[in-house]
Amino acid sequence: MFITELTVNGFKNLKGIDIRPHEKINIFCGKNAQGKTNLIEAIWLCSGARSFRGTKDRRMIGDDEQVMDIGLKFQNSFREQEIRFKMAKPNIKEKTVTLNGVKLKAPSKLFGELNCVVFTPEDLELSKGSPENRRQFTDLSVSQIKNTYSAVTYKYDALIERRNLLLKSINYGRSKRSEMEMWDIQLAQMGAFISLHRYNYIKKLSAYAKMLYEEISGGREKLDISYYSTVYSSDMLDIAKDYTGLLKDRYFEVLKNNIEDDLRAGFTQKGVHRDDVICRINGNPVREDASQGQHRSVALIMKLSQAYILNEEIDDHPVILLDDVLSELDPSRQKFVISKIHDMQVFITCCDMNIPFDEKQHGKIFNIEAGQIKKK
Ligand SMILES: Nc1ncnc2c1ncn2[C@@H]1O[C@H](COP(=O)(O)OP(=O)(O)OP(=O)(O)O)[C@@H](O)[C@H]1O
Ligand SMILES: [Mg+2]
Repeated sequence: MFITELTVNGFKNLKGIDIRPHEKINIFCGKNAQGKTNLIEAIWLCSGARSFRGTKDRRMIGDDEQVMDIGLKFQNSFREQEIRFKMAKPNIKEKTVTLNGVKLKAPSKLFGELNCVVFTPEDLELSKGSPENRRQFTDLSVSQIKNTYSAVTYKYDALIERRNLLLKSINYGRSKRSEMEMWDIQLAQMGAFISLHRYNYIKKLSAYAKMLYEEISGGREKLDISYYSTVYSSDMLDIAKDYTGLLKDRYFEVLKNNIEDDLRAGFTQKGVHRDDVICRINGNPVREDASQGQHRSVALIMKLSQAYILNEEIDDHPVILLDDVLSELDPSRQKFVISKIHDMQVFITCCDMNIPFDEKQHGKIFNIEAGQIKKK
């Protein structure tokens, strides 16, 4: 799929943006703080996900603006579709999102329509940072291909918070242990659902990643990525056909058996909120042992694999957003990335024009200054 039209007004510092992107390569070029990442973020919001840089609702609308309005047309294998994303002060919690003129209940209902994969410099820490980053990466990736998934993760997180409050309340003698079961039955159902989807996703990701890593390391290194569950053994998830039955029962059992420890700790210690994705190079854990360059390669390859899975699942190329990533990579890795996404639409931000391909032949350059596209 590819974006055919993009208009942005009043989103952060962006004003009067109205462009027809190229089907392949698009470069947003400009000095620091001009609005390049904001433009990438505006596109990303139309994919249904929350801001990749954690922008709060109150910072979405420009300081001197009352309204922000993003309009985007994109073409998939079947037809052209149109997304509008609007917010207005002072009711910033109210987001008006439409798909082909039809109002959606929430931005997350856009999941699965415009599919994007975003790479940012922070993503280069994916294999090095905390397990939470890898859980978020997995959750977002699954949501893109399974539209009921993100709602379940939100509910699960809310329930875990309530369970943790209950643990404290039991410790203070204000609640009874018997109240726990009601929460645990629900948590077990959702936890089993999340575990199985994440496990199956990571299994798929691992197959692509292994292949790509072999290529980037010149066949010298073998990358293994696996899902680490605090509740199940891999065997159990591997043979499970669905999340009801055995998986749900086991989850409930683990929560129940761990209650003494949880009461002592004051929070729930086992469950999908404590799981991780483990990366190994030649059998050694990446998080502890890898060099800076290996971390970059692993992170890049996890993202590329995400794009490949989307392509496989939706039978269409996702749109690739590269924010300040190429300049962080050495020339051979730059070439590797470009070679892997050459048949997809790409948006790249950069401060200078040292880009390893002939942009004049294959794409368009948009110069950005003070939130506007500068006419040449
Ligand atoms: N709500 C807002 N209203 C007005 N301006 C905002 C708002 N939020 C952020 N900005 C401004 O947007 C500007 C551009 O930010 P952006 O991150 O897009 O820059 P950039 O071109 O990507 O720069 P860099 O090359 O440093 O990454 C910043 O100066 C920031 O202060
Ligand atoms: Mg930027």
